[in-house]
Amino acid sequence: LPPVIAIDGPTASGKGTVASLVAQKLGFHYLDSGALYRLVALGCQKHGLDPKNGPEIAELAKKLVISFKNGQVFLNLEDVTEAIRSESMGLLASQIAVHPEVRQALVSIQHGFRTTPGLVADGRDMASVIFPDASLKVFLTATPSARAERRHKQLIAKGISAKLPDLLQDLQERDARDSSRGTAPLFMTDGAKLLETSELSIDQAVKAVLDWYQG
Ligand code: CDP
Repeated sequence: LPPVIAIDGPTASGKGTVASLVAQKLGFHYLDSGALYRLVALGCQKHGLDPKNGPEIAELAKKLVISFKNGQVFLNLEDVTEAIRSESMGLLASQIAVHPEVRQALVSIQHGFRTTPGLVADGRDMASVIFPDASLKVFLTATPSARAERRHKQLIAKGISAKLPDLLQDLQERDARDSSRGTAPLFMTDGAKLLETSELSIDQAVKAVLDWYQG
């Protein structure tokens, strides 16, 4: 099987940016598993499903036609790249991600990304559940305040106004939900390397991952 680099970590840690750059440098494929949960959340909203109804959402998840192309994301052939990025969709994604049936419905899609020459996968359970045999496991994090500031900058750059204290509270709530859920909670797996990025630039974080991988 082609090699996998698993990069897990909490919300707004910058793992998506780092993971996609590492993939680019190595010429590997990139799996943004959070985007899958966001796509299911969007489908759930479009169909008016109850976010608490795991079995019903899992059935829907199995039927969704999902594709990624040149950094764009499509749901049933509709370009939803922007639609899935909203804060509200992130929140709904974290609510539907607690259901074991929903997580199970996404397993084979995620395994499908593992093709030659290799894969960089980012999420919460890449190292623990989806790719336990990954060649390198990284737990990428930063302090809550550093993460809230990063999210704030991102939103401002997109012309969206947001208050720092609200963002901090939102990410702490999401951390609590991601870490305390019964299925595939966010935690640092045995054998994972800790990458604390509060004081690191993106380039430094990317270099750290590449150095570990290339030994
Ligand atoms: O980084 P951020 O939380 O903003 O977003 P994301 O990585 O796109 O993930 C959205 C939500 O999906 C997260 O809050 C998690 O609750 C959930 N998720 C998950 O449960 N498992 C994954 N492998 C990836 C995301």
